[in-house]
Amino acid sequence: MSIDLSDKTAIVTGAASGIGLAVAEQLARSGAAVRMLDIREDLLGIECQKITAAGGKATWQKVDIGDVNEVESVCEEAINDLNGVDILVNNAGLQHVSPLGEFDVGMWDKLTDIMLRGPFILTKNILPQMAERSWGRVVNIASIHSVVASKFKSAYISAKHGLIGLTKTAALEAAESGVTVNAISPAYVRTALVEKQIESQAKLHGLSSEDVLKKIMLEPMPQKELIEPEEIGEVVLFLCSDAARHINGHNLVIDGGWTIT
Ligand SMILES: NC(=O)c1ccc[n+]([C@@H]2O[C@H](COP(=O)([O-])OP(=O)(O)OC[C@H]3O[C@@H](n4cnc5c(N)ncnc54)[C@H](O)[C@@H]3O)[C@@H](O)[C@H]2O)c1
Repeated sequence: MSIDLSDKTAIVTGAASGIGLAVAEQLARSGAAVRMLDIREDLLGIECQKITAAGGKATWQKVDIGDVNEVESVCEEAINDLNGVDILVNNAGLQHVSPLGEFDVGMWDKLTDIMLRGPFILTKNILPQMAERSWGRVVNIASIHSVVASKFKSAYISAKHGLIGLTKTAALEAAESGVTVNAISPAYVRTALVEKQIESQAKLHGLSSEDVLKKIMLEPMPQKELIEPEEIGEVVLFLCSDAARHINGHNLVIDGGWTIT
């Protein structure tokens, strides 16, 4: 998508790989100055350097999105360094697969801290200065699991359902300020997170990786194909465009027909 974001600044969390990296690359290609945040310092530097080598404006900072103090100070630094933040993409996430009766409480806290409390802390710190500048875009990367459930993913599904509640509430509070807040909910995207799930589901069900993909993961998806990370980046760009200025509080489901069956 051709959209000019050369006067905009952006924060993308979980930007070292997968969907977050594709989003950061596409925002930078559209001219935005992007601050890439992730816990994976090793990957961040390398990926950020690739973007700047291609002519993009990108910087990076290591942060644990599950740590409230770290997130707050990173927000403050980004606002100062970038002279205000126009676009916030809450994307960092992880999966843990376990039957409910055996689900580790520490893992529950970790997943919900990173995928629900983290976006709340970022939005709380970034949204008010967007409103002051009368323009802003918050895009929350939720999941098909924000609208449907699957077995063994209780923390992930609870966090993603909660993220839609946060999206709607923030959208309402921002509605008169020129800021929109939306969510994107993809089915399975070809990233490291999905590769890990294929491995753990294969162990859990005693199946081959190929069978897990075909018979379990893509079974409810009529189009039966993994989505590419760049496709999600394109939708983020659209939501950042002026054409999308009245799309607010929406959960944009990209599911290959999963929810029409
Ligand atoms: N891949 C899919 O099929 C799929 C589908 C729907 C939604 N999603 C969502 O998309 C988002 C990105 O997932 P992905 O598939 O690109 O996975 P990924 O594993 O490739 O990327 C996730 C990134 O988040 C980072 N991260 C994890 N914990 C962090 C923390 N505490 N602090 C900072 N960064 C942290 C990781 O280091 C990684 O770079 C997640 O929120 C995920 O739930 C993915």
